[in-house]
Amino acid sequence: MATRGIVKLGESILRAKSREVVDFNDKLACLIDDMFETMFKANGVGLAAPQVGLLKRVCVVCVDGVMKYELVNPVIVKSSGTQIGQEGCLSVPDRNGNVARPKKMTVEAQDRNGKKHVYQVSDFEAVAFSHEIDHLDGVLFIDKLVD
Ligand code: CO
Repeated sequence: MATRGIVKLGESILRAKSREVVDFNDKLACLIDDMFETMFKANGVGLAAPQVGLLKRVCVVCVDGVMKYELVNPVIVKSSGTQIGQEGCLSVPDRNGNVARPKKMTVEAQDRNGKKHVYQVSDFEAVAFSHEIDHLDGVLFIDKLVD
């Protein structure tokens, strides 16, 4: 495992749309492990592949230091409610602001082996999932600020 450099605001890759993962191989497993290591080292709670320079539909989330989610080709299949809370982003240093997110979400995603999972998340986990999945479509939290 290794940490990878985090892409910062201003680099065009953060605004591009990531591609579906079709190869579930050692390279993908290595990417996911490196993303977790990079995220934890930076004290983040989520990280998406474009943030380490790769346009792949992969993100990782861990909001409590225990439950580690690896989301490959994630799709939000259901969402409900609204919550507003302060967010930041490892790619947007020294900025934060309030964003409206779903209160609850159902997300389908594959793991590094291609196995499909269905996750029901709420509260801060739903915030993190929504924020990271946005990255896969080039959307940043600063696009969604509310007062
Ligand atoms: Co972010």
